[in-house]
Amino acid sequence: MQPYLIAPSILSADFARLGEDVANVISAGADVVHFDVMDNHYVPNLSFGAPICKALRDYGITAPIDVHLMVSPVDSMIEQFVQAGASMISFHPEASGHVDRSLQLIIDGGCQAGLVLNPATPLHVLEHVLHKLDYILLMSVNPGFGGQSFIPHTLTKIAQVKALVSASGRDIRIEVDGGINCDNIADIAAAGADMFVAGSAIFNQPNYSDVITTMRQKLSTI
Ligand code: DX5
Ligand code: ZN
Repeated sequence: MQPYLIAPSILSADFARLGEDVANVISAGADVVHFDVMDNHYVPNLSFGAPICKALRDYGITAPIDVHLMVSPVDSMIEQFVQAGASMISFHPEASGHVDRSLQLIIDGGCQAGLVLNPATPLHVLEHVLHKLDYILLMSVNPGFGGQSFIPHTLTKIAQVKALVSASGRDIRIEVDGGINCDNIADIAAAGADMFVAGSAIFNQPNYSDVITTMRQKLSTI
């Protein structure tokens, strides 16, 4: 059984002192830095690009950086984030003209490859690329903003993806992103997820360690 991973979304961090805030959340017990890239084209919001990822590496952040690309087109961004020190890179199939090629770019860059499914994206997009995936990122909100509410139907979808992954016999992580907090993380894990993105639930609290410890306690009950 793979361990559960908690990945704070730095979309809700303090951008004016980003390096320090990311270092603090890792010290507080987070496993992975979730890095949301938004282009005001694929999604109706703008965040940050590869130079900020490189700046975090230069600042001394050594934790894995999980880059979630909400951009179209995607391929040039994949190449930039490989160079900037990303560890994991995922993108939305609707945003790429050639999903297999984009996945191969991530793999050739030495990063873990993931595909992101929006709440309304059907599972059949996974069918011919499962062998190239290290993880599947299921959106539990419509992408573009932090602080939205978890869409309950995601629990059904997580269970379906878990069954699909188990049947494949492959070692593919199931990451869930959007509206995760201390009250629903156990249900999300019980449905089959093993990696949890949380932005506002962590960064909007004064003590990151308290939140992450509570999340781990809830996960230990599964
Ligand atoms: C939404 C982003 C999420 C978001 C999560 O488009 O992909 O990562 O920042 O934030 P919360 O946990 O606040 O929903
Ligand atoms: Zn995200």
